[in-house]
Amino acid sequence: MGKKQLELRSLDRKNYETFRKLVNVILPISYPSSYFLELVTANTGDKNEIYIPISKLAFIGDVLVGGITCKLLPNRMGHVIPEGIYLELIVVKQCCQNKGVGIKLLNYVEVECRTYLLHYIYLHVSINNRKGIEWYMKRGFEKIEFELPGYYKLGNQNVTAIIMRKYVH
Ligand SMILES: CC(C)(COP(=O)(O)OP(=O)(O)OC[C@H]1O[C@@H](n2cnc3c(N)ncnc32)[C@H](O)[C@@H]1OP(=O)(O)O)[C@@H](O)C(=O)NCCC(=O)NCCS
Repeated sequence: MGKKQLELRSLDRKNYETFRKLVNVILPISYPSSYFLELVTANTGDKNEIYIPISKLAFIGDVLVGGITCKLLPNRMGHVIPEGIYLELIVVKQCCQNKGVGIKLLNYVEVECRTYLLHYIYLHVSINNRKGIEWYMKRGFEKIEFELPGYYKLGNQNVTAIIMRKYVH
């Protein structure tokens, strides 16, 4: 990866658009600017927030090479369900994959999970994303029993999602 260090930085108003572009190049699902802006503004400590975002971006020098976004899930009263963190997306720029960036991003979330005294990370992943599923399994995620047909809409195609979960010690 050259001499420049891999560094994790916060998602903020200056970098969220660049991250959105990276996500939308790598994933088949398109995420709107509002999704990322919400993650940024939810960090302001507004008491009306119903979720706590957990996100980090990976940089090599000034170049954005990846990122992860998660949420602590609320129950109907707005309280966090004390079971786990929901991992919404993790992406690494194609040219920087298989160099440990994804593991570093996931490690960050695992540390956060322990900080909140939570024990699980949950996620949805497309059943067609064989490489992604394999990557998660190598990192200790397991498939939970049920599948969700039509969870993703890719063009006019309905794609099944599976739910995976990792126990964080
Ligand atoms: C899935 C994804 C996030 C993984 O990120 P990544 O940075 O490529 O993953 P890593 O480099 O951390 O790990 C991949 C391999 O590189 C190895 N590796 C190479 N150099 C390494 C280093 N310096 N440090 C640690 N691991 C290293 C890891 O051991 C790992 O090998 P293994 O999976 O055989 O055990 C990435 O491939 C991606 O963006 N995929 C497309 C989007 C996607 O499918 N996201 C998931 C659904 S939202």
